[in-house]
Amino acid sequence: MDFKIAVLPGDGIGPEISKVGVDVMTAVCNKKGHSVSYTYAPVGASAIDECGDPFPETTFKICMDADAVLFSAIGDPKYDNNPTAKVRPEQGLLAMRKRLGLFANIRPVQIFPALIHKSPLKAEIIKDADFICIRELTGGMYFGEKYQDDDRAYDTNAYTREEIERILRVAFEYARRRRNHLTVVDKANVLASSRLWRKIAKEMEPQYPDVTTDYMFVDNAAMKMITEPSFFDVMVTENTFGDILTDEGSVISGSMGLLPSASTGEHTPVFEPIHGSWPQAKGLNIANPMAQVLSVAMLFEYFNLKEEGAIIRRAVDDALAAFVRTPEIQVEGHTAYGTKEIGEWLVNRINEL
Ligand code: IPM
Ligand code: MN
Repeated sequence: MDFKIAVLPGDGIGPEISKVGVDVMTAVCNKKGHSVSYTYAPVGASAIDECGDPFPETTFKICMDADAVLFSAIGDPKYDNNPTAKVRPEQGLLAMRKRLGLFANIRPVQIFPALIHKSPLKAEIIKDADFICIRELTGGMYFGEKYQDDDRAYDTNAYTREEIERILRVAFEYARRRRNHLTVVDKANVLASSRLWRKIAKEMEPQYPDVTTDYMFVDNAAMKMITEPSFFDVMVTENTFGDILTDEGSVISGSMGLLPSASTGEHTPVFEPIHGSWPQAKGLNIANPMAQVLSVAMLFEYFNLKEEGAIIRRAVDDALAAFVRTPEIQVEGHTAYGTKEIGEWLVNRINEL
């Protein structure tokens, strides 16, 4: 394949992990005979500094023109204590999602056997956990009508049939490619929007007779994720519930630094780590690049290049097993590696495989 990749390093640790992701992508492309070119574009706080817009028009065009976007992280503390700031880095992320039509956010929760001891949950509870959370990403309260004055405020949790159907279709298809089990997470005992989700999911069920579909209230799902995470195969939910549940999911595995995600939909898909910009670690060469690297694996898999994805996953497993790890997951008796050094190790390993 001839890949055109838009690279959006963003803020904080973004540029450091982005470089590792690009190096790994290049190594795999060289190995498997793909050509690849990268176009860099600003996003988030760094884009605000450069041109006053967290998702500039030029960045949008570069994304539209690419086969895939390799995104890292956005967010800067200088905007955090000022919720009234007119322009905020997060708006860049929401604009990117909306303008690229990225309605399906795929966040896998996977256990790395070498890191089971790092999980806040007991090993016997998490050892078989392996599920995907599919979060609707361009609807609901994030984008519904909003109002605020000094005495009253609201956010509208609006969903249309079309928005619900298309995300459910993605979820049913994922379940089909996995263990044929879909859990629709909602709050249908209280919310009208959830009742519509559930109605439409029930209507669609007969089209997927090979998938076992069940329905769970979001409060119960939050509990089940930590008491019996192996229950889940594919879960699908609306934007806000998905935001909350995927943070919960990310700690099951023991480190947020290892989980990648993909956002797909109408235009160019985006691949990114689920963690944020960790501004305190910026430039210190301590950030874990594995989530970014695994997001490159998801990128290849999106284009059905399974071997390319597998090479990356294998290299990451080998690195963890060889104690090539950043400080937050290193164990006693082994010296921690830097972001850059892990990148070099992975590239060498990919060349050997
Ligand atoms: C995420 C983040 C974003 C969200 C923020 C930064 C707007 O928390 O990707 O989960 O709420 O969607
Ligand atoms: Mn979130």
